[in-house]
Parts: sequence; structure tokens; C-alpha cells
Amino acid sequence: MDSFLAAMFSSEQQERYCLDCMGYFLMFTAACTFFTLLFENVPYGRHASSKYGFPVHVKLAWFVQELPALAVPLCLLRTSAAKTAQLPNALLIAMYCTHYVQRCLIYPFLIRGGKATPVGSCALAFVFCVYNGYMQIRYLSHYAEYPTGWVTHPCFITGSALWLVGWLVNLHSDHILRTLRKPGETGYQIPRGGVFEYVSGANFLGEITEWAGFALAGCSVHSTSFSIFTLVVLASRAVAHHRWYINKFEDYPKSRKALIPFVF
Ligand SMILES: NC(=O)c1ccc[n+]([C@@H]2O[C@H](COP(=O)([O-])OP(=O)(O)OC[C@H]3O[C@@H](n4cnc5c(N)ncnc54)[C@H](OP(=O)(O)O)[C@@H]3O)[C@@H](O)[C@H]2O)c1
Repeated sequence: MDSFLAAMFSSEQQERYCLDCMGYFLMFTAACTFFTLLFENVPYGRHASSKYGFPVHVKLAWFVQELPALAVPLCLLRTSAAKTAQLPNALLIAMYCTHYVQRCLIYPFLIRGGKATPVGSCALAFVFCVYNGYMQIRYLSHYAEYPTGWVTHPCFITGSALWLVGWLVNLHSDHILRTLRKPGETGYQIPRGGVFEYVSGANFLGEITEWAGFALAGCSVHSTSFSIFTLVVLASRAVAHHRWYINKFEDYPKSRKALIPFVF
């Protein structure tokens, strides 16, 4: 990996500049995605569409598309990673890797009866995971410099707490969804319990909170752009799911909102 990166960039300044540009480009992509998603649903699961290519088995799709989010960082951490011994950098890398160990190596194999994923959707997620895996972990392991005592700064403490709460809400909500189906079932039921009592997109609210916390703790264009992109994609999905539930279930809880409890 070291020799590959040396061939790609003539200096550390050049790579650092490229990483910053990647962060700004992801923000631009999030803005474009926002406008696209005003007219389209994110095309997988119950909103899958054949116009995005042939269907891939859901477990295979999730494993393959999320794999680079873990594999690229692991390769980068094996290189001469100058900053990994710094506590803030190590903790932020641990947050990122903890999420993706679960998402890549555990989540796909727990899915019950999920819809096949269109290959186009799977390919886009794969590209995103390569891009974001490199941007987050190369920045944190090689370039990010935090002031002394950053781990006791209110931004880091609040961000880390949000990351943890968001991750737990995400895991719990995905668990609730899974238990709605017995092995072999593929239909839908009204989710009950946990944060689903307040919003239709409880798993999405958890993940949005998680990466917002990561952005606050990391305070960089790289973590912020990831958080904004996640917000755009998952807010759209929460709204689409909420509308879908209201149309499908006459007894859908009236007080339940799409994404923000009591508000939206
Ligand atoms: N960071 C990001 O940008 C990002 C992007 C996308 C997803 N994610 C995360 O990945 C995870 C999965 O996302 P997703 O979009 O697939 O979530 P989802 O649409 O809520 O579906 C999750 C799983 O639960 C099943 N399910 C959902 N609602 C159900 C119901 N009412 N009754 C029975 N089964 C139900 C789905 O089956 P079907 O497939 O049959 O619908 C699917 O297997 C979430 O934790 C999400 O936060 C993150």
C-alpha cells in the first residue's frame, strides 16, 4: 500500500490536498443526491427497481458492497501510519472500524428475507465504501492533528457520546426489524418498540446520529462530508418508508413521525 500511494502522489502535501478535495467533492455529491432523491427513492429493499440492473442476493450484496469500508482501512493501517498512536486519532479510527466490522461481517448474515439488491445500487455502494474508507482512515491515520487534550474537549466528548448512542439505537432498531420476520418470511409488519414508537426510520435516525457524533468528535471536512451524505440518503429513505407504511397499514400509529420524534 505504501508503494501504491507513493506512486499515486508525489508528496504528502499533494495527498493531503487530494483528501481535502475528496471531502468537498462528497459534500457536492450530497447536494446533487439531495435533489435527485426529491424525485426518486434510494433503489433497494422495498423501493428496489429493475431499471438499476439484475438482482443480487441481499446477503451477498451487503457483504460485497460494505467490504471495502473495512478492507481499505485495514490495508491503510498496515502502512506507515504516522498518527495512529495519537489518542484522538486512535479513538476515531476505532469508532469507524467498530461500525464497519458489524456492518460488513455481522449484519449481512443476520438479514431475514430481505429483497434482492439491484446490481447498480450495490455497485454505487461499493464505490462509496472505497472512497469513504480511504478518505476517513488515511486522513485519521496519517494527517489529522488534534490539539493536546482534545479527548477532553466538549466537542470530542459530546461527539463520542452521540456516536455511541446512535450506534446502539441503530443496532437495536435493526434488531427489531429483523424479529418482525420468522425465518423464510418476506412480508412487512408495523415495527413496534424502542425508537420505532416515535419514528418510522428509527434505524436511520440512529445511524445519522452516529455519524453526526463522529463528525463533531473529528471536526474535519472528511468526517463532516460523510455525516452530511449519510443524512441526505437516510433522511430520504426514512421519509419514503414513512409514506409507504401510511399507505400500506390503515392502523399505522398516527403520532409516529418519519425521522425526528414529535417534529418531522
Ligand atoms: N451510512 C449510510 O449511508 C447508509 C446507507 C444505507 C443504509 N445504511 C444502514 O444500513 C442498515 C440497513 O439499511 P436499509 O436501508 O436496508 O434499512 P431498511 O429498509 O429499514 O431494511 C432493513 C432490513 O429490515 C427489513 N425490514 C424493514 N422494514 C421491515 C418491516 N416493517 N417488516 C419486516 N421487515 C422489515 C428489510 O427487508 P426488505 O429488504 O425486504 O425491505 C431489510 O432486510 C440500516 O442500519 C441503515 O442505517 C447506512
